[in-house]
Amino acid sequence: MKHFKIVSLLLAVVMTAALLGACAGTTTEKDVLTMGTNAAFPPYEFVDENNNVAGIDAEIAAAVAEKLGMKLEIKDMAFDSLITAVSSGSVDVVLAGMTVTPEREESVNFSESYATGIQVVIVKEDSPIATIDDLAGKKIGVQTGTTGDIYCADDYGEDAIARYDNGALAVAALQNGQVDCVVIDNEPAKAFVAANEGLKILDTEYITENYAAAIAKDNTELLEKFNAALAELKEEGKLDEIIGKYIKAE
Ligand code: ARG
Repeated sequence: MKHFKIVSLLLAVVMTAALLGACAGTTTEKDVLTMGTNAAFPPYEFVDENNNVAGIDAEIAAAVAEKLGMKLEIKDMAFDSLITAVSSGSVDVVLAGMTVTPEREESVNFSESYATGIQVVIVKEDSPIATIDDLAGKKIGVQTGTTGDIYCADDYGEDAIARYDNGALAVAALQNGQVDCVVIDNEPAKAFVAANEGLKILDTEYITENYAAAIAKDNTELLEKFNAALAELKEEGKLDEIIGKYIKAE
């Protein structure tokens, strides 16, 4: 009996210690800002030679986190899981060259915009497609769940669309002749065209849009803090500096 008491006492001590440890763990976890992204969208996000997620969004998020006294952690995932990831709380914020759309605004809050994007059309250099009007009846490659996907499906019909996990795969499909063109944001388009022989971007622009960070609807505290930090970065010229590092003025 005596032994049993000692064992119970020890157990109680161990459990209390574990509980305290867990609490301490939660406190430190609060100091981490987790960002979800899809790191196949240069120059906004890509995996660098050291296997880290780099790019404009990663740097903006790091600068915001620093202002909030937090450590940034990046989770790379499929683009079409990002909205769910942030609204369910598995990440705090999404920066993914993500366009503000009314549909997405039903699920998440967006920060102030930090950049603009333009949907453009990539074709082979010798393609008969010369303008947007030539897209009718053509096979269009897109990244699943992106605005390029949504707009093209609306404008040209489901059958016209071939969906890929990322822009690079859509561009590979264009090279292989599986699609006639790729609709994607202008900056990644430039990066993909630069990395691949024989491709060009059509002069005609499809749609202009705003990029912003997505935050869970119920996390208005983070939204306010994020916007305040972003405003400071804009004012300090830090935002332009980050963007200028990756996008050279033409
Ligand atoms: N701007 C487009 C959208 O919001 C494409 C973004 C794709 N981003 C990415 N990290 N893959 O739908």
